[in-house]
Amino acid sequence: ASRCATAVANSNIALIKYWGKADERLIIPRASSLSLTLDGLSTSTTVQFGASDADSLTIDGTTQQGTALNRVSAFLDIIREKAGINLPARVTSANTVPYGAGLASSASAFAALAGAACEAAGLDATPRELSRLARRGSGSACRSIFGGLVKWNAGHDDESSYAEPVDSGDMDLAVIVVLISGEKKPISSREAMRRTVVTSPLYDAWIDSCQDDLDAALAAIRQGDVERFGELTEANSFGMHASMMASRPAVLYWLPETVSALNAVTSIRDGGLGAWSTMDAGPNVKVLTDGRDAERVADELRNRLPDCEVQIHRPGDGLRFVR
Ligand code: DP6
Repeated sequence: ASRCATAVANSNIALIKYWGKADERLIIPRASSLSLTLDGLSTSTTVQFGASDADSLTIDGTTQQGTALNRVSAFLDIIREKAGINLPARVTSANTVPYGAGLASSASAFAALAGAACEAAGLDATPRELSRLARRGSGSACRSIFGGLVKWNAGHDDESSYAEPVDSGDMDLAVIVVLISGEKKPISSREAMRRTVVTSPLYDAWIDSCQDDLDAALAAIRQGDVERFGELTEANSFGMHASMMASRPAVLYWLPETVSALNAVTSIRDGGLGAWSTMDAGPNVKVLTDGRDAERVADELRNRLPDCEVQIHRPGDGLRFVR
């Protein structure tokens, strides 16, 4: 049997966010979340077992050591144990966006790695099993196994915590990325979410709001109500950032340009176009719109934010194997 396999996964943007774990080892989240898998932000990963003396990791041509390699090795141990193999792996990854630009995410990375590693190890995994495995590498990665709108059921253990696709009906969505800064984050999302859970007095209130936001968002999707969905998306993201900022010490990812971009979104909306912001663990702003408004919203953003790069991303597919 072949010990080498390649898989490609797209990144995803959470619209109802995941922030905080109930179980750190298994990566069980405190709340369910909802995301859109996006085209044009992907990772392609090849895993080859038994071709080297130790695990190795190359990302976009650069050999990685330390934390990045250790995290991949620990993830591969889960796969090796399941497959009953004891071989080191050579992992080679390529991103369609520069690694470290604040867009190449752990979501596409661990989804692609889960797929390629399972295939190379000869494991016959269902999409749901792949989702559960990808989750062990990075929580948000469990959603990138699927295309379009995806719900991650928080669950309560390894088996019950997985993502699944959500029917988007005839909703046509797009996410516009406003690139503020490619600089490295001041604090990793993993560390920041731990600090938020442990120290933020606002965290439990935000978690309480997540179930309501998710239920309301799913209802809005069923009704094809992009405006309602957008309002919930924006509110949920601001709530998450408020809970981060209330951490001790504060977790603040915003830069001055971030605030300008957030205000630009409000002003575009005041002008009558549907646009709603969402932000992750970094300074970049993502804007949810109806797919039919995307070009116009992007132009409005470019006019208001001449120093920012603005890119439209349409819904993307789930994990695929390269054979
Ligand atoms: C803000 O999935 O990167 O993007 O599970 O610790 O690897 P770990 O965290 P990660 O966190 C993503 C947080 C977020 C929101 C989201 O994607 O839901």
